Amino acid sequence: MRILGIESSCDETGVAVYDSDQGLLAHALHSQVALHAEYGGVVPELASRDHVRKTIPLIDHCLKQAALTKTDIDGIAFTAGPGLLGALLVGASIGRSLAWAWGIPAVGVHHMEGHLLAPMLEETPPAFPFVALLVSGGHTQLVKVEGIGQYEMLGESIDDAAGEAFDKTAKLLDLGYPGGPALAKLATEGDPTRFKFPRPMTDRPGLEFSFSGLKTFALNTWQKHPDEKANIARAFEDAVVDTLAIKCKRALQQTGLKRLVIAGGVSANTHLREKLAELTSSLGGEVYYPRPEFCTDNGAMIAFAGTQRLLHGQHEEIAIKAQARWPMESLSAI
Ligand code: KG4
Ligand code: ZN
Repeated sequence: MRILGIESSCDETGVAVYDSDQGLLAHALHSQVALHAEYGGVVPELASRDHVRKTIPLIDHCLKQAALTKTDIDGIAFTAGPGLLGALLVGASIGRSLAWAWGIPAVGVHHMEGHLLAPMLEETPPAFPFVALLVSGGHTQLVKVEGIGQYEMLGESIDDAAGEAFDKTAKLLDLGYPGGPALAKLATEGDPTRFKFPRPMTDRPGLEFSFSGLKTFALNTWQKHPDEKANIARAFEDAVVDTLAIKCKRALQQTGLKRLVIAGGVSANTHLREKLAELTSSLGGEVYYPRPEFCTDNGAMIAFAGTQRLLHGQHEEIAIKAQARWPMESLSAI
């Protein structure tokens, strides 16, 4: 089965073709960073308009890249939520309509399930069951995963997501948009022993996170030490990475599982990947993550997740649907 995947939930248009026998055949991404940079963050209406401009050309590009035509496609997967509603509706409208015109099934994919399954695009995919740490711009979640669609939420952020904390702190430190990668880059030049930031909510039991206090901590420190931006970036990153690692350790111990999957934009963070590799090896387990380009938003993860659901006969009725909010635990098992 050969599936065309479309991702348009936020500020990246991603398209890919996944073949259930041959694997990934093509993928392409258009980032809107340049479009939103002058506003210091994502402008939803501009995001939607850009998805309108870019989706069809990217589909053409992917089909050409894989030397395929529309008749070679057996189904279409598009991100149906969660995300910016206008942006989601672009991918949903194009995906659902093309599937109707081509006489093939379409399936709406949950964006976070896409992230969660992205490590399965790699050479050594994780086997079920595992604990997943999903760290993106909108979500920070620890999930016990028994199979596709079998998700038990172990804990999540009660305020800012990890990626959001990176972005907001970067903005306060004048590092621009998108801030996460810029802050991480600056942190590599910082002295890890100079400042020590708190590890929020690690002094009590539980798997909830709270990252909103760290940005204020970073700002206050910067006001006192204006020449030490790199050291502050390093202290902030260490605090986030450590906090995530402490909660991952608890989740693995609580569930008795050995395999840990990390996915979502922040899983591209080198320091986090190293820390979690150390942690899982000290526990006799293993960590799995996508290649960096599939940590952040992309069409390949949507094509892959959609393929799994279409293979099990799931598909949408003839209606265009998207939802800005959509709890992952409500997904059906396959
Ligand atoms: O998964 P993603 O592309 O989009 C959402 O679903 O939200 O995640 C984007 C987030 C942003 O907050 C971005 O700053 C963060 O991932 N991010 C990083 C790094 N690369 C992306 N955060 C820390 N270190 C990185 N290297
Ligand atoms: Zn995402």
